[in-house]
Amino acid sequence: MRILYAEDYEGMSFNAAKVMASVIINKPDAVLGLATGSSPVGMYEDLADWYRKGIISFRQCRSVNLDEYVGLSPEHNMSYAYFMRENLFKNVDIDMKNVNIPSGLAEDGDAECARYDAVIDSLGGIDIQLLGIGNNGHIGFNEPADHFPLGTHRVTLTDSTIDANKRFFASRDDVPRFAYTMGIKPIMQAKKVLLVASGEGKAEILEKAFFGPVTPEVPASILQMAEDLVVCADRAALSVIMKKHPECVEK
Ligand code: F6R
Repeated sequence: MRILYAEDYEGMSFNAAKVMASVIINKPDAVLGLATGSSPVGMYEDLADWYRKGIISFRQCRSVNLDEYVGLSPEHNMSYAYFMRENLFKNVDIDMKNVNIPSGLAEDGDAECARYDAVIDSLGGIDIQLLGIGNNGHIGFNEPADHFPLGTHRVTLTDSTIDANKRFFASRDDVPRFAYTMGIKPIMQAKKVLLVASGEGKAEILEKAFFGPVTPEVPASILQMAEDLVVCADRAALSVIMKKHPECVEK
């Protein structure tokens, strides 16, 4: 595990964008596992900027997103499909035929989960999986549980996740209660895992996830066993790790 320190959100985004860009440059048809949320927005901006400058191209890349809210159409402005279009896809040259996101409108949830696992398999696995981390340690929407769910599944979002995500919606009642999420297996099988975290709100959970016991009660803790994990975080998010394990942080 490498933990890369940055002073602030911009620095964290820049460090993360460099890790992602290096994978794309070395393998132009890389399979990118992508995430939504506040943490990767700056990284996506840097990548789009480097695309505009001709430094990287997404033309041959394939992508699989981590998750989608059940019940939201791709046109809904709170859907993750919409988020991805606005924050990355419309700003780069990715071929939308190569973009994969679980369908929030699927009528048969089990069939949708099986379809999504088959999509990931058909791509031959993920070259780099980008992750944020929830305040409760979730990755994707793999919420704290008594086991690590392996495949794509439909989850009931926890109160803590609904509270964290209500900032994007008109009211708490508008936050969907269910989501589809990729499971832990393709995340752990990814050749590289890149986790981004910013702000003091993530400081405790980052320390718990990467220096505490590996347990499904803290889903991100499984990443301690990932083959190649890079954590890009800012000073605020690293404040607890810097206090307890300063030798583990690369400045
Ligand atoms: C998003 C996702 C979530 C977020 C996490 C952190 O696709 O799967 O796990 O990465 O909730 O969200 P932010 O970055 O908004 O703090």
